Amino acid sequence: MTIRQALNSATRILKRKSTSPSLDAEVLLAYVLKKPKTDIFVRMDNFVYKRDRQKFLALIKKRSQGWPVAYLTHEKEFFGLKFYVDKNVLIPRPETEGLVDLVLEKLKIVNYKLKILDIGTGSGCIIVSLAKSLRNAELVSASQPRDPEINSEFRYFASDISSAALKIARKNARRHKVKVNFKKSNLLSAWKNQRFDVIVANLPYLAKETDPSTKFEPKKALIAKNHGLGLIAKLLQQISTLSAPPSALFLEIGHDQGAKIKKLAAKWLPSFDTKIFRDMSGKNRYAILNAPDLIL
Ligand SMILES: C[S@@+](CC[C@H](N)C(=O)[O-])C[C@H]1O[C@@H](n2cnc3c(N)ncnc32)[C@H](O)[C@@H]1O
Repeated sequence: MTIRQALNSATRILKRKSTSPSLDAEVLLAYVLKKPKTDIFVRMDNFVYKRDRQKFLALIKKRSQGWPVAYLTHEKEFFGLKFYVDKNVLIPRPETEGLVDLVLEKLKIVNYKLKILDIGTGSGCIIVSLAKSLRNAELVSASQPRDPEINSEFRYFASDISSAALKIARKNARRHKVKVNFKKSNLLSAWKNQRFDVIVANLPYLAKETDPSTKFEPKKALIAKNHGLGLIAKLLQQISTLSAPPSALFLEIGHDQGAKIKKLAAKWLPSFDTKIFRDMSGKNRYAILNAPDLIL
């Protein structure tokens, strides 16, 4: 069987189950053959060996049962970086890249040392992307004439309630050569004695599962009690008890949760200023809570 024939028959199988059958088949065959996707296009008449064919068929079968491609190839691109993923972590979403963008935008003007904590880190995609981007920014500024007033240095911390997720986040931090202090923690419980300047969190915010494509992802990464707001409310409550709360909190939220988040913020952090921001598709998706003494 040639590459062309393998792709054609896999695409036929996937047509009933996937909205992107030919792309899925190409990505999975490239993964099995350990070649970039562009390589297989110029080798359409090459023979696929039996072992690879069997491996490919097994993956196509899993894909046709609904397994996400990223779990089959153990890779997802996020913020221009490749992250290892498996069934223990949520597959990073494009909307979450917008959260990273928002944090970077706000930190652009910062000129002092900052400690950043990512809660519910999952694959580590948020904290690793922040660390990589901020390090690149520091390298650029270090190569330019230095303003003696500017002394930015960031330190990164991340936690998750799942040990399996933390293992993956550590792997991704190593892969991208960034230093992150990871700790297993239920929200802020293991961090109580430390002060962070910035807390960023993409916690579960769905009330229930409605999208069949999330069937293979961990429920603990998706669903929260109280109409999806249970964990965010708990986090705000925990922050309200800190003797030194953060200067800013960045949250990813459900598109219909903006008003409710403002209400929760008014209840637990009344002195903070809360703003809701939209994602690329124009839906409310992020909340930024700024402390009154904000120096960001
Ligand atoms: C929506 S996923 C986000 C993962 C990753 N930050 C991302 O953006 O792709 C939520 C994460 O929060 C974690 N989580 C759930 N409950 C938690 C809790 N009480 N404390 C800390 N982390 C929690 C889950 O294990 C999961 O990894």
